[in-house]
Amino acid sequence: MERILTIERHILDTQREHPLATGVLSRLLYDIALAAKIIARETTRAGLVNILGSAGQTNVQGEEQQKLDVFAHRTIFRMNDHTGRLCLMASEEHEDIIPIPDKYPCGKYVLVFDPLDGSSNTDVNGNVATIFAIHRKITPGDQGQLDDVLQPGRDIVAAGYVVYGPSTMLVYSTGHGVHGFTLDPSVGEFLLSHPDIRIPAKPKYYSCNQGNERYWPAGVRRFVEWLQAKDDPVRKPIDARYSGALVADVHRILLQGGVFFYPGDLRDPAKPYGKLRLIYECAPLAFLVAQAGGYASDGLGSVLDLAPHTLHQRIPFFIGDRTLVEQAERFIQEHDGEWVQTYSAVRHGAPGAAARA
Ligand code: AHG
Ligand code: MN
Ligand code: MN
Repeated sequence: MERILTIERHILDTQREHPLATGVLSRLLYDIALAAKIIARETTRAGLVNILGSAGQTNVQGEEQQKLDVFAHRTIFRMNDHTGRLCLMASEEHEDIIPIPDKYPCGKYVLVFDPLDGSSNTDVNGNVATIFAIHRKITPGDQGQLDDVLQPGRDIVAAGYVVYGPSTMLVYSTGHGVHGFTLDPSVGEFLLSHPDIRIPAKPKYYSCNQGNERYWPAGVRRFVEWLQAKDDPVRKPIDARYSGALVADVHRILLQGGVFFYPGDLRDPAKPYGKLRLIYECAPLAFLVAQAGGYASDGLGSVLDLAPHTLHQRIPFFIGDRTLVEQAERFIQEHDGEWVQTYSAVRHGAPGAAARA
């Protein structure tokens, strides 16, 4: 019989290769995997139980209904608030940083997460996901502070995502390659199914919400025409796929090759940065894709080099095959001078403003 590798075993083996590791990070990753199993249980039941209503409504038993994203947020928080491994959390579903309750000890790591990515897909039984990243505490004192969260993706210690699809998959990296595990519901374990994922050299898909095309800067529109090989009868066009759930789309790119992007747009000059959030979505995925041999950019440079200036900062996002992402950067540089100027002014925080508020 072939050797079956559970996620626990895999994390442990990886840790053994790094004798300085204390085991805290490994246990933190177990906690996240366990939270993911609980969320997976709820997402697969979502069509059956009365969980799809909006938060604040009451179900027939008089209990408060929770939206799945609220449920996922609470599950991850509760699995991690008392373990002594974290000094702070931050979630897309919470406005401020989330301290560890006073009654519990603080640890040396920081957890940031998007509890349920693509949550609008729950209404149509489409894929949803969780994204997470772990940083080391960098500020003095026991309790974590905002600066512990506002760290560039380059300094991430571990990151990953869990896709709740036809099967549940957890994909993670501690900086030693990217590894994918599939949840076997009959034994309740994540089993190694995709060791050492590398983004394929031949790009297969491009992925974006093309409904927004008219709002995009000219360079991004030119990039799409280039992907479609409009002016080149010899080069083959690249097929398009878009699910409305970032992780599902990036997962496809990771396994099959290509590029995902959610660019900045020109609708509101005060908001030239698009939709996706640097801390909870872009930086963790940029870390993973870099580990798989790919690249992520905000159109001007590497996402991993961006030090967030605010907790819920949004950025334009291009991720996947390095050649394609760099091609997008070239089109932007060539055609979008005005947009680049507007975006550059907010990229590192508004000048004169209390940037870290
Ligand atoms: P979330 O559900 O965490 O708010 O994220 C939704 C994001 C992302 O998953 C997806 O790629 C994007 O929103 C889709 O946006 P559009 O509907 O504008 O295409
Ligand atoms: Mn999201
Ligand atoms: Mn979300």
